[in-house]
Amino acid sequence: MKNGPALRILDPNEQEGASCAMAKKGVWICLLAVLAALCLSGGEALPADGGAVIPAGEKYVALTFDDGPRRGTTDRLLDGLRQRDVAATFFLIGQQIEDNADLVTRMAEEGHQIGNHTWSHQRLDGVLPDAAAQEVTRTEAALEALLGGGEYWLRPPYGQVTPGTEADFGVPMVKWSVDPRDWESRDTGKVTQAILEYVKPGSIILLHDIYPSSVETALQVVDALMAQGYHFVTVEQLFAIRGKIPENGPIYRQ
Ligand code: NI
Repeated sequence: MKNGPALRILDPNEQEGASCAMAKKGVWICLLAVLAALCLSGGEALPADGGAVIPAGEKYVALTFDDGPRRGTTDRLLDGLRQRDVAATFFLIGQQIEDNADLVTRMAEEGHQIGNHTWSHQRLDGVLPDAAAQEVTRTEAALEALLGGGEYWLRPPYGQVTPGTEADFGVPMVKWSVDPRDWESRDTGKVTQAILEYVKPGSIILLHDIYPSSVETALQVVDALMAQGYHFVTVEQLFAIRGKIPENGPIYRQ
């Protein structure tokens, strides 16, 4: 997601009914705290996209999907996420963008973060620097042509780049903290169970939206974790919530 709206992550149930006044009070307390921090720091306290109002003590998690888009699975996933009003992050394969441009546009329109997973799923630690750079910039160009300029975070295939080249890609890089190896078993029940066992607030969950089983897993995980009080945010939002400013160079895991 580029130039997305300011964060507004409030449980819809809290905006109506008996708890409305309390929720509003919490918002004002947050706002006052932000203003106070601003005064103390000379204006450097706001997260990157500014204006965030985040209730304290909430549980946030980021669902991430690699290797798409793929017609037949990605669209089914987008339907399910929209029904649940959930935002996720998609790391796309560049050469699959043109044939699925409608799906990519829809991702952006529906508030998902879109990232780069190289042009051809090339390992970036086994090729010359020029070839690695081309895998990334070619995908960036395809995304910019379709969606406009923005910062498209990079998830290197297999989570690897050649040591020493981390800062060369010019964008934040992010791996994951929960990997249920959905591509291996392709078993919805088993993968869902693995995620629910290891997830914790702040987790970045890795799935692949090219498998029907993983799409079903994702939606089951959303339903189960929402029932536990979790909120789903993009990776970018997860960083903003924690006041973490993403830098070029580190490969973040959470
Ligand atoms: Ni991949």
